[in-house]
Amino acid sequence: MNSPKRVFVDELKDHVGQAVNLRGWVYNTRSSGKVRFLILRDGTGLAQCILFKGECSDAAYNCFDNLTQEACVSLSGVVREEKRSPGGYEISVKELTVLSPSVDFPISPKEHGTDFLMSHRHLWLRSKRQHAIMRVRHEIIMAIRDFFDGRGFTLLDAPIFTPSACEGTSTLFETKYFDEKAYLSQSGQLYMEAGAAAFGKVYCFGPTFRAEKSKTRRHLIEFWMVEPEVAFNDLYDNMDLAEQFVEYVVQRTIKNKAEELQVLERNSAGLALVKAPFPRLHYNEAAAWVHKENPNFTIGEDFGGTDETIVSSRFEKPVFVHHYPAAIKAFYMKEDPDEKGASMSCDLLATEGYGEIIGGGQREESLEVLLGKIQDHKLDPSDFAWYLDLRKYGTFPHSGFGLGLERTVSWICGLPHVRETAAFPRLYGRNYP
Ligand code: 4AD
Ligand code: MG
Repeated sequence: MNSPKRVFVDELKDHVGQAVNLRGWVYNTRSSGKVRFLILRDGTGLAQCILFKGECSDAAYNCFDNLTQEACVSLSGVVREEKRSPGGYEISVKELTVLSPSVDFPISPKEHGTDFLMSHRHLWLRSKRQHAIMRVRHEIIMAIRDFFDGRGFTLLDAPIFTPSACEGTSTLFETKYFDEKAYLSQSGQLYMEAGAAAFGKVYCFGPTFRAEKSKTRRHLIEFWMVEPEVAFNDLYDNMDLAEQFVEYVVQRTIKNKAEELQVLERNSAGLALVKAPFPRLHYNEAAAWVHKENPNFTIGEDFGGTDETIVSSRFEKPVFVHHYPAAIKAFYMKEDPDEKGASMSCDLLATEGYGEIIGGGQREESLEVLLGKIQDHKLDPSDFAWYLDLRKYGTFPHSGFGLGLERTVSWICGLPHVRETAAFPRLYGRNYP
């Protein structure tokens, strides 16, 4: 006897009229008279499976009554087109068996607290909402790679074990590297600068780590960052690249993942406006606005989350803030020769109060100036000997930026917190599951 072909729910469209075998988990069940409905979830989609008494085997019909949420099942039946059912197809079930039970699945359709859900993240991932978020995240990752791969960039991934700090010593994760100290990478930038001299246009895309004791809706301890670096680009070229990049990622995602965004009840009308060019504001101008609305803000300081919202809420597109005071930026930022004390930095603030998604700028290319900055920042020049070599052997103007993946996912999905943007997020106070 031929057993029907095993297929995934997203392949049902190719098997209309045929008998197939589906395996997956019980999402939901309901009965109406002699008809039994099972919604099966197999990770690729949901399928409505129908059991009519007399048309399916007695064993299958009886099996239905013992189904519990998330029990693993195997069923066989004929595929029918059915516009009203989730996914557009329906299975007339002939056989149904339980492969393995699921007793008292902890996540029920009732409301659960965030802490409970985060502790059950490994199971919570099965929900429709988490499924939609992860699919959007995947699309964003593909868009990021395609953008740079399609523009002559070479992927040059940076190491995770590093000997020194890139973004300041206060957020470094220290670990052992045999008999030496090492730090988990805060950013691949310094390595990308070496890469820009070797390949012209490079990017890295991988996990980065910040030991930030912040419990905000925007901070993760471990997050992914994509970091392009381009030889001979100045600050303005850098903003041009960043805005083309963000436009590409946003427009492609809202087009390709419209269904998922609908599950998330994300109104993407605002995102449709995210097209280059983006407005560009000097720090001094932005700081003056913030100071007017937030008396606790001192001009010269970095913006907090609410300050960023004060600036970005004036625009319907993301906005660049450039020329932050050098004093509040990292050691590698180039100081503007025409504006003492101002760095050739740029941050991109997303719309709708999502805040900074990109940080970057033009790098200091002078050996003497850079050495002075390393000392001013109380860093050890011997840790940066290799980095200083880049200024000794054919130094060159160059710029780059880093875009935080999870903040971007949070913004595009319209989420209240970054914790749902990673499958297994690392947060301050949470390293489980
Ligand atoms: O502004 P940041 O610190 O810039 C850098 O690391 C540069 N070295 C990048 C470069 O020029 N190559 O971080 C860049 C971005 C931020 O704009 C934000 O999107 C994200 O990384 N980010 C975080 N995302 C989640 N949780 C955190 N704790 C983050 N810290 C930064
Ligand atoms: Mg930043």
